[in-house]
Amino acid sequence: MSQPRLHIIVGSTRPGRRGPAVAGWFHALALKHSGFDAGLVDLAAVGLPLLDEPRPPQRGQYEHEHTRRWSRTVDAADAFVFVVPEYNHSYNAATKNALDYLAKEWQGKPVAFVGYGGVAGGARAVQALLPVVIALGMVPSAGAVHIPFIRLSFTSDGTFEPAPGLDENATGVLDELLRLTTVRSASGPATRVG
Ligand SMILES: Cc1cc2nc3c(=O)[nH]c(=O)nc-3n(C[C@H](O)[C@H](O)[C@H](O)COP(=O)(O)O)c2cc1C
Repeated sequence: MSQPRLHIIVGSTRPGRRGPAVAGWFHALALKHSGFDAGLVDLAAVGLPLLDEPRPPQRGQYEHEHTRRWSRTVDAADAFVFVVPEYNHSYNAATKNALDYLAKEWQGKPVAFVGYGGVAGGARAVQALLPVVIALGMVPSAGAVHIPFIRLSFTSDGTFEPAPGLDENATGVLDELLRLTTVRSASGPATRVG
């Protein structure tokens, strides 16, 4: 049987962002973990404009090619990891925009988070994401990775160097996400109730 497809989503889009290095680290661990067929999805490369579809996403009737492309990308995944920065005690706008674009494509799929930022380690970003992914009918994992004072985990040449224990933390999150994904595929996709 083929492995479940995991999309690791790089949430931040600004020039000079740290997100791709953090997501690259997590992706390498996911490949080593070998429970998933894991790939990176960079929202900067996806390049969605602010939501510009005239109809609610629940209908799946998309007017724009960028939305259809994004729909296919999300549809192809069985599970997600959002790698998100903390911006003003929440997560960044590009991540919310990307979530709002679609509906059924997210529904019933397990999701975990890697949050990073300053003193709170992205915890407020992840907390703010939880009600949103629940509203979309996703299945959030209890575990998450939090990286405080993110700048201190980077060397002067821009390499991400995880603190001791972080690899094990991330591997535990992948274990739990795989468990949720396996339960879902055994019981079939969810149907929306509200
Ligand atoms: C607009 C903005 C707001 C921020 N607000 C917070 C914040 O509320 N709490 C925090 O811990 N860090 C905050 N930071 C620091 C970021 O978490 C840190 O710069 C991180 O590297 C941002 O992710 P990125 O480099 O992938 O964009 C903020 C950074 C930016 C750019």
